[in-house]
Amino acid sequence: MVKAKDIVSDYNGYDYKKIFWEDADRKYEDAADRMAVKKLLPKHMDKFVDIAGGYGRLADEYIPRSKSATLFDYSQSELDDAKKKYGKKLNTVQGDIYKLPFKDGEFSSLMMIRATHHFKDIDKVVAELYRILQPGGVAVIEVANKRTLPRIARYLTGRTKISPFDHKVANLTDVAKSGFYNYHPKYIEDIFEKQGFKIDKVLSVSNFRSAGLKKIFGTKNLVKMEKGAQTVLAPIRFAPSIYYRLVKLGDK
Ligand SMILES: C[S@@+](CC[C@H](N)C(=O)[O-])C[C@H]1O[C@@H](n2cnc3c(N)ncnc32)[C@H](O)[C@@H]1O
Repeated sequence: MVKAKDIVSDYNGYDYKKIFWEDADRKYEDAADRMAVKKLLPKHMDKFVDIAGGYGRLADEYIPRSKSATLFDYSQSELDDAKKKYGKKLNTVQGDIYKLPFKDGEFSSLMMIRATHHFKDIDKVVAELYRILQPGGVAVIEVANKRTLPRIARYLTGRTKISPFDHKVANLTDVAKSGFYNYHPKYIEDIFEKQGFKIDKVLSVSNFRSAGLKKIFGTKNLVKMEKGAQTVLAPIRFAPSIYYRLVKLGDK
């Protein structure tokens, strides 16, 4: 097993599926992620990799679309769970995101969902994703947004000093001891473009992520509302998750 120095959150031995998804009733968030992934991933993919894909929560979305599908993660226990469920349909590879064990241009498409908040050095991560993608290849990346409506409200009413408007990366140590990194959309978009990606499409995702709204409207209704909102609200980028479809520029 590859050991890394810079792991912010080690999922080895943590039952992410049960604790985070099932016990905390995140059906709405799961449905919102699936909707976005369905819209943004190419319909037919050759070699695909799910980076920091955990236990393969979204594998049933990409396996049917890919000739070959790989799940990459740091946590061997997450990968073992995925292998149990998907067997030969999914290759699993353990390693560290900062040194991906893949060749330059190895994949025709990739995705990385709900992982940017774990990385101290997002520039390096984006450079690695770019490197393993072939020219013309597609990357679907979810970014944890610091400029959400609740955070704007908290800032304007003096309940937090972290400004959602400045472009600096926010390290939310109030959420976890080692912190969660959140990004201003403009900050991350500059990194994508400097790296050589073209931003092809943007979606605003998990727009109604709130325990209060779940109680009032119920999960089913929130999922219905989410459907239209992902595209309509994309230009303002106020949701907690912003999804990007990026294309690696360069000749095929
Ligand atoms: C919140 S989970 C998201 C899993 C999956 N993408 C999903 O949406 O269900 C974050 C994942 O990032 C992985 N991770 C964290 N740091 C990593 C690193 N340095 N290299 C590779 N994976 C890492 C964790 O092991 C975990 O599985």
